[in-house]
Amino acid sequence: MHYDRLFLPIKIRNLELKNRIIMPAIHLMYNMDGYANARFNEFYWRRAEGGAGLIFTGGCRFDEYGGSPGVMSLETDDFIPGYREFTDGMHKRGAKVGVQLYHAGAYAHSIANDGREALAPSAILSKFTKEMPREMTREEMRVIISKWAAAAKRAQSAGFDIVEIIASAGYLISQFLSPKTNQRTDEYGGSWENRTRFPLEVIAAVREAVGDDFPISVRIAGNDLVPGSNTNTEAVMFAKLLEKAGVDMINVTGGWHESVVPQLTGELPRGGFTYLTSAVKDAVNIPVAASNRINDPLTAEMTLALGKSDLISLGRPLIADPDWPKKAQNGESEIIRHCVACNQGCLAKTFFAEPVECLVNGFAGHEYMLKMYRAKEPKAILVLGAGVAGCEFAVQATLCGHNVTVWEKSDHIGGQLYLAAASHAKREFLTLASYYTSAFKKLGIELLLNKNAGLYEIKTAGFDVIVTATGNTPKSITLPGKSSIPVYSYSDILSGKAVAGRDVVIVGGAAVGCETADYLAYEAAMSPEELYFILSQRSEEPEKVLEMVDKTRRNIAIVDIAKIGTGFEQGTAWPLLKELNRFGVKQYSYAKILELTERTVEIEAVEPKTREQKAKERESGIVEPEKLLHLSLPCDTIVIAAGSVPNNELYNALKSDIHEIYNIGDSFEVGKISDAVSQAIELARKL
Ligand SMILES: Cc1cc2nc3c(=O)[nH]c(=O)nc-3n(C[C@H](O)[C@H](O)[C@H](O)COP(=O)(O)OP(=O)(O)OC[C@H]3O[C@@H](n4cnc5c(N)ncnc54)[C@H](O)[C@@H]3O)c2cc1C
Ligand SMILES: Cc1cc2nc3c(=O)[nH]c(=O)nc-3n(C[C@H](O)[C@H](O)[C@H](O)COP(=O)(O)O)c2cc1C
Repeated sequence: MHYDRLFLPIKIRNLELKNRIIMPAIHLMYNMDGYANARFNEFYWRRAEGGAGLIFTGGCRFDEYGGSPGVMSLETDDFIPGYREFTDGMHKRGAKVGVQLYHAGAYAHSIANDGREALAPSAILSKFTKEMPREMTREEMRVIISKWAAAAKRAQSAGFDIVEIIASAGYLISQFLSPKTNQRTDEYGGSWENRTRFPLEVIAAVREAVGDDFPISVRIAGNDLVPGSNTNTEAVMFAKLLEKAGVDMINVTGGWHESVVPQLTGELPRGGFTYLTSAVKDAVNIPVAASNRINDPLTAEMTLALGKSDLISLGRPLIADPDWPKKAQNGESEIIRHCVACNQGCLAKTFFAEPVECLVNGFAGHEYMLKMYRAKEPKAILVLGAGVAGCEFAVQATLCGHNVTVWEKSDHIGGQLYLAAASHAKREFLTLASYYTSAFKKLGIELLLNKNAGLYEIKTAGFDVIVTATGNTPKSITLPGKSSIPVYSYSDILSGKAVAGRDVVIVGGAAVGCETADYLAYEAAMSPEELYFILSQRSEEPEKVLEMVDKTRRNIAIVDIAKIGTGFEQGTAWPLLKELNRFGVKQYSYAKILELTERTVEIEAVEPKTREQKAKERESGIVEPEKLLHLSLPCDTIVIAAGSVPNNELYNALKSDIHEIYNIGDSFEVGKISDAVSQAIELARKL
């Protein structure tokens, strides 16, 4: 497949880009003191080598009220030399480089700003930080504008090719634009004209600072996705004003951080916000970039082909695979390691002010340490098990120069990726299995499927090294009472080996139990195709369709002795839990299963408090005692999701007879994909 449009050059004012691929700003938490450093440089230099035309760094702070910890800074001239060396390195590697100048306004946490209260257009409690900002004075606005302009000038001196002003995601400029957060009564609030005054003054000051030849980009929300705030209509109006104000490029993203609409996870389909970009693109004549979940070359090319945008932003996709552009250009898109939209390695880290990494790319953020490695002596290695651990090891060891053979018991590679990808918002996880299939072919890794070798065969096959990566075994538990209700494991259900009935009780409410509930609810709901049919044929009233979309035929309950919803990475569970609530999945935390009957599961559980009750308690400070209930849950299918144990039998049986043997992934210790990937990389470089 050729992606010709993706590799056409384009001009942004006087800046020539070699292709249409840009990396948008992603604040990486690599710059704790704001200065450029080896980790930051090497991360981006690697992405420049991968072929992206323009890479935006940042958000970059320029004001003590402005930001989050760990972001780059251009607050003073001291920062210029370090970033000069950085931009030189980017240019040497063939990429243009920009910096996003960022002011969080009410979204700044006081803890990140030495305890200072945030500054905002109006003193309205921030739904993001849960803190009350202070209304900015006119003088404070003037100072921020002048600092914005001074930082743009510094960016120019540091060798950046373009500056970007952030007017999206709910940060300061978005707050000025929105009637929800801007309730000023002076000429900066009220009418649309007044609400756009501060943003346009920022643009004018930055233009004045950088001069006429230097390109300016603005990142805008395509729709704030916050009730009562701006929509795509205002985004288009704002884009027109930006064009008139001399802005050279507009990058359209999704909504605000406080929005309850998922914008980064797999709920959002590939290219799911390009409809927002199209409206902007149709209204202006300057280049427009589309953003969010454009993680494969076909979606990118199609976006350009349909005239929805002129440029494509690849944020996490370039974290996952810096060589995405080169591979797409060279006809090797099947070996792109796709972003799976999990946020577990990147966004989740930022909640703890930890450096950004990537679930599927163990090198991301470690480029400064993990250099190319070639083994001194190539070895013949046999890998047993082709899940993530076995496959990643095979790829990495081959790249280090070893000869690797993989024996897999089942008829496919990927192992538990098929279970992880079962939940409707996690289908992207399967792209990792496709990547390994293609990478094996490309690297000439010998793979034998349906190979369940015995000990003798393994020991006598003539390999120097054996690596076991045989995964885990779901835990089974004995439930009290006598019943003929069928009991399945999460694996039976998610792999499609068993079909659940209508009344399902899931025992275990950690991440896997919750995902199993989502899978079962979704399976019994209207399919996207059915809904599209009904809507496009107008065969039902819209209100009725809205009711139907939230209904599932299954009656699902999750029961756990502990709290339901644990085991997720920080900040990643809410879209799934929102789905469970939408589908009416009942959740009983701290519950005890008393007995199984022929048609029910009898439990003792704490009565879940309603949202209203919880709000009332928070307001009054009086917490009502929890009520213990005896409940009879209708049930025709039980699913056990009570964890798993390492499947290390093979390793234990072999270890005393094999000179060099290693055990990795879940068969070593039940963990995550990132554990499997990092153990595989570490081992490959050690042999
Ligand atoms: C529902 C679900 C959701 C998940 N979601 C996430 C998530 O969001 N993020 C995350 O990081 N992790 C997630 N995980 C965990 C993650 O999938 C695993 O940690 C990871 O896939 C483990 O990889 P592995 O290669 O060690 O094991 P596996 O994927 O289990 O692979 C083991 C392979 O070995 C093969 N095998 C077994 N015995 C033999 C033998 N004797 N000879 C040859 N082959 C053999 C098996 O057939 C299998 O292919 C999830 C898991 C589940 C079940
Ligand atoms: C860890 C992380 C940090 C981010 N920081 C910024 C930022 O500082 N400024 C910004 O405009 N967008 C930021 N974003 C949003 C990305 O630029 C991008 O819009 C988003 O990841 C969706 O695009 P993608 O699907 O291509 O990754 C961030 C995203 C992530 C995951």
